[in-house]
Amino acid sequence: STALLAPAADPPVEIVGHRGASHDAPENTVASFKLSWAQKADGSELDIYLTKDGKAVVIHDKDTKRTAGTGMAVPGATLDELRALDVGRWKGERFAGEKIPTLDEMLATAPTGKRVFVEVKCGPEVVAELDRVLRASKLEPNQTPVIAFSADVIAAVKKARPDVPAYWLVTLNPKGAKPRMAEELIAKAKEIHADGLDLSASDVLDDAFARKVKAAGLKLYVWTVNDPIVAKRLVGIGVDGITTDRPGWLREQLAK
Ligand code: G3P
Ligand code: CA
Repeated sequence: STALLAPAADPPVEIVGHRGASHDAPENTVASFKLSWAQKADGSELDIYLTKDGKAVVIHDKDTKRTAGTGMAVPGATLDELRALDVGRWKGERFAGEKIPTLDEMLATAPTGKRVFVEVKCGPEVVAELDRVLRASKLEPNQTPVIAFSADVIAAVKKARPDVPAYWLVTLNPKGAKPRMAEELIAKAKEIHADGLDLSASDVLDDAFARKVKAAGLKLYVWTVNDPIVAKRLVGIGVDGITTDRPGWLREQLAK
């Protein structure tokens, strides 16, 4: 029958590479992004800070020590100073020479229709430069969702760019504080004009929570999921997307 010949259906969920394909390549580099596209990720996530000379650069930590071996505070350094570092070698000799990318360089790798999730790790001071880079890129507003833990950053992004999706990163069970209820988070998300919530997989996320978020018209994303059993459960409760270090492998596992 034709059913037997049909290729496995894509999972009904957006698969987003975490810092690119960071299981296999050095996180937040052009190599990691290109590999995530080769692995057929629907989107890929990266982290940005603003340099001393006002450029949006892609790196997860505020300091270069972990990925470059030499410690330099990113907000206190110029783009040229940061570009002199090697952030590939720590992941293997074959990645030697990878540089800290600029945001525009990473956006330029995205194939047609793919999405780049831009996580703002600094404050709203980056928004003007972010807006400039997004406008200069060939990508549509919907291809560059912005994510941030800071409600102030989400509010500032939506004020500058109502057309760019923004998903608020939230913790349901903050250490040492009472759990946050869906109603409370949804109300705050609406106040800051967020288009969705982006939750940690370590939080207990159940059907009822997902239903409330979806009923409020918000998207629901979850990070960072490398376990196919967890991913299947999340697909089952209707999340819109999953961020993973292994986009290619996870897609294969979900197709089984
Ligand atoms: O996708 C959100 C997730 O990346 C947030 O955590 O520490 O990996 O930036 P972190
Ligand atoms: Ca991130």
